Amino acid sequence: MLLTREEMTFDFQGAKLDPTRDRELLEWMFNQFLYGEVTGIQVGHWLYDAPDFEAAKFLARQSLEEMQHVDNFLRIMMMLGCRPRPAHPAVRFLATGMMGGSWAEHVALEMAQGEGFVLQAFYAVIDTLDHKPSVDILRRAVKQEERHVEFGEQQTAKAIESKGWLRRRLLGLSLVSIWGVRRLARYMEHRLPAAAGAGAGSAHAHGQAHDVMKHLPAFLEHANVCAELRLRRIGVLDRPLAELSAGKRALLVAEAYGGKLLGGLVSLVTFPLRVLPLWPKKKRLTDTYLRDAHVTGFSLPAGTLPDEAQPQEP
Ligand SMILES: [Fe+2]
Ligand SMILES: [Fe+2]
Repeated sequence: MLLTREEMTFDFQGAKLDPTRDRELLEWMFNQFLYGEVTGIQVGHWLYDAPDFEAAKFLARQSLEEMQHVDNFLRIMMMLGCRPRPAHPAVRFLATGMMGGSWAEHVALEMAQGEGFVLQAFYAVIDTLDHKPSVDILRRAVKQEERHVEFGEQQTAKAIESKGWLRRRLLGLSLVSIWGVRRLARYMEHRLPAAAGAGAGSAHAHGQAHDVMKHLPAFLEHANVCAELRLRRIGVLDRPLAELSAGKRALLVAEAYGGKLLGGLVSLVTFPLRVLPLWPKKKRLTDTYLRDAHVTGFSLPAGTLPDEAQPQEP
C-alpha cells in the first residue's frame, strides 16, 4: 500500500467505544459496514471486465473475501447484541448508486479511494472498540482490505500511464468525493450532540459529546488528507491540492462529469420505461440481504433482547 498504517491512523487520544453503553451507536455503525460488505457482489461485474488474467484472479479471490467479511460483521453484531438493519440511504447511494462507469473509475474511486476510506474506518474501530473478540476479527479482515486498496492503487497507476486525459478525469471525480467527505464532516460538526446521543441514560444522551464521536470531524478531515496523499503517490495528483485554484478544480470536475452528464441524460429519457411494471428493477442481494436466510440465521432471534444474546466465539 502507498500509505502506511501509521499515516492512516487517527489519534483518538485513548477514547473508547463501550460494547454496552454504546450498543445503539455500534449497531448503526456495523450496519453501514455490513451493507458495504454485501456490495462485494459487485466484484462479479468487474470480474467480467477484468483487463488481464492476473486481475481476474485477484477479483475472484476478492469476491470470496468480501462475502467472508459479511459473516465477520454478522458474527461481531451477534456478539455485541446488534441487529441487522437497513443502511443509511446516503451509504446505500454511495456504495451502490455511484458504481464506477469504467475499469479505471472502479479501481481508482471504488478500490483505492473508497476501500481506502473504509479501511481507515476499520482502523479507527480497531483502535477504539473495547471488545477484544470483535477487534481480533477486524484485525484479520483489514489485512485483506489492505490488499484490495493496494490493487486499486497499482491498477490506477497502470491505467493512467501516458493518458493525461484519464488522469485529469479521475482527479475531477476524486475531488467530488473529497468534497463529499468535507460536507459530511461539516454536517457532523453541527449534528454532533444528536449523533452522539446513543445509549439511553448515558452522559451523551444529555447533550455531552461522546468521547469518540467528538473526534469525528477531525477524523474525516484526516481521511481527506490521506486521500490527497494517496492521489499524489499514485500519480493522479501532481501537486498539493491547495495549489489548485478554485477555478481549476471546478474545471476538472466539470470535465470529468461531462461524460457522466451524457449518461445521466440517457437514463433520464429511459426513466419512465424503467419504472413501468413491465420493466421492474431487478432485485439484488443488496436489496434483499436482510431477509436472506443466511443473515436471519445469523442474527438475534426475533423478540430477544440484546442482553439475552449469547456471546459466541469468533
Ligand atoms: Fe470487505
Ligand atoms: Fe474490500
